[in-house]
Amino acid sequence: MAKLGFFTLIAAFIGTLTIVGLTSNDASAGKPCSRAKTETKFLGNACKKGGQDEAKKVMKAFLKDYKKTHAAATCTTCHAKVGGAYPLKPDGLRLFKEAGNL
Ligand code: HEC
Repeated sequence: MAKLGFFTLIAAFIGTLTIVGLTSNDASAGKPCSRAKTETKFLGNACKKGGQDEAKKVMKAFLKDYKKTHAAATCTTCHAKVGGAYPLKPDGLRLFKEAGNL
């Protein structure tokens, strides 16, 4: 009986390790950016660091700042679609670079 308890403990321990391993993998790898090549260091660094999730995060932070000088700006000021590959509008990259993201 004591032996069974010990094995149950080991099994539970290994189970926990597996779950922790899986979730932390998800968080660090994430979905890569859709762009094969980034035009700016701003996005390049974010994609390298944490894929599209990180790109979204830094874009949101950038927009908050951008709104100080462009009050009406939203994601769709530059993006034709918010989601998927985040395609840009014709002047999206120009606006982004003018905002100081090189
Ligand atoms: C001033 C223009 C501008 C605004 C506003 C903007 N973006 Fe972007 N975004 C860009 C540009 C330009 C790129 C590509 C940059 C590059 O190639 O280096 C980009 C790239 C991205 C990417 C990378 C997609 C991929 O997988 O390759 C994501 C995600 C993204 N933007 C999300 C957002 C979100 C969410 C918002 C709103 C909170 C937002 N953007 C607002 C200009 C903008």
